Amino acid sequence: MKFFVDTANIDDIRDLASTGLLDGVTTNPSLVAKSGKQFIPLIEEICSVVSGPVSAEVAATDYETMMKEGRKLAKIAKNIAVKVPLTPAGLKVCKNLSDDGTIVNVTLCFSPAQAILAAKAGAAFISPFVGRLDDIAQDGMQLIADIVQIYENYPQWDTEVLVASVRHPMHIVDSAKMGAHVVTCPPDVIKKLYSHPLTDKGLTAFVEDWKKTGQSIL
Ligand code: G3P
Repeated sequence: MKFFVDTANIDDIRDLASTGLLDGVTTNPSLVAKSGKQFIPLIEEICSVVSGPVSAEVAATDYETMMKEGRKLAKIAKNIAVKVPLTPAGLKVCKNLSDDGTIVNVTLCFSPAQAILAAKAGAAFISPFVGRLDDIAQDGMQLIADIVQIYENYPQWDTEVLVASVRHPMHIVDSAKMGAHVVTCPPDVIKKLYSHPLTDKGLTAFVEDWKKTGQSIL
């Protein structure tokens, strides 16, 4: 399973990249607005830190402008994944950019039917939003199970399931159980994966007992 971080905060990206566990980055217009940074230089900086896919989302919603924006974003670096919305125009952009060899991430997916369309349009990634479905009392993880099952029926589709709108560690664990290819998580959710009270308690005991030996390894 690949780990992407869902943020436009360059300090968090650098911090996570240093762990060696980070496979890519996803951004969206809301995250860029939160960063307070200029979009294009920010994406350039992220691409200089992370070699895996870096999703940069188009701002327009009409086909012609999305195509122009997508082509401009794709030129920033080889690892740019142009992010487009799951609309008829967005999927048309997806098909055309994918045919030209651009990595495309189709975002705002909330149904298996939409995921089928994205795969047929040649998307490299489909981004189903699990947390936002949970928020309206629908089962976000059931959507992941459905998409994974459908895609497994069609090995000729290369689209990877990129679980988005992740809110807690169990979204990640359940995604792994289901065989989703990628999860994109806020930095704090990735950090929570490390935590277990018995790890902390056990380590404290080992440190104290080692002191009693009076020895040094180095
Ligand atoms: O980047 C897309 C997605 O991960 C957004 O998550 O928390 O705004 O629903 P959220």
